[in-house]
Amino acid sequence: MPDVTLRPLTLADIAIMLKWSEDEEFCLANDWPLNQPPERWEETFLRMVNNPPVNLMRLGIQAHNLLIGYVDLGQMNPLEARAAFGIAIGNRAYWGQGYGYTAGHQMLRYGFEDRGLERVTAEAHASNTRPIALLVRLGFTLEGVLRRHETYRGEKQDVYLYGMLKEEFVSRPALRLLEND
Ligand SMILES: CC(C)(COP(=O)(O)OP(=O)(O)OC[C@H]1O[C@@H](n2cnc3c(N)ncnc32)[C@H](O)[C@@H]1OP(=O)(O)O)[C@@H](O)C(=O)NCCC(=O)NCCS
Repeated sequence: MPDVTLRPLTLADIAIMLKWSEDEEFCLANDWPLNQPPERWEETFLRMVNNPPVNLMRLGIQAHNLLIGYVDLGQMNPLEARAAFGIAIGNRAYWGQGYGYTAGHQMLRYGFEDRGLERVTAEAHASNTRPIALLVRLGFTLEGVLRRHETYRGEKQDVYLYGMLKEEFVSRPALRLLEND
């Protein structure tokens, strides 16, 4: 498995995230708006670094000393011990080589083992085969389908709902979460 570190995002990462926003294929895959001016993106990324939503934990995925993506536990609900998983590898040169799996697994381990989550959910558009394969590989179960729920790549698509319970997560203790961990 590739060597991956998860770490908080910093202001220095904004330039890299702006590069991702210029990549049309990445934006289409990740459902980011196309042709948004760089100033708007900069505002979005600044807010994300300086003032993220209280119920979102977003960590940068670092490989070979480079930020290549981010992974989320969002909609954190401590009362229900539940969160929503999300992930994006913004640098497409790193797709399909196990970085998503490794980073996703580290984040799930953090959620289940360190944050006491009992359930993690995830969603994917029906035509988006990469994240679907990733979620299945990570151990998520398909729990439902929202039919023709959302426009993705210009057409109404089904949205697949996935879930994983704490006892379904297979831990691999050798993986690290944060630098210096
Ligand atoms: C989804 C994403 C995070 C996956 O990360 P990745 O590093 O490319 O994935 P990995 O290399 O770890 O592979 C994970 C699984 O996806 C599969 N996969 C990789 N490339 C694939 C492709 N082109 N088509 C279908 N499955 C693919 C792998 O085979 C693996 O499954 P397997 O173990 O059963 O073989 C990444 O492709 C991405 O950021 N895509 C754009 C954003 C996006 O779609 N986000 C999801 C929004 S819900």
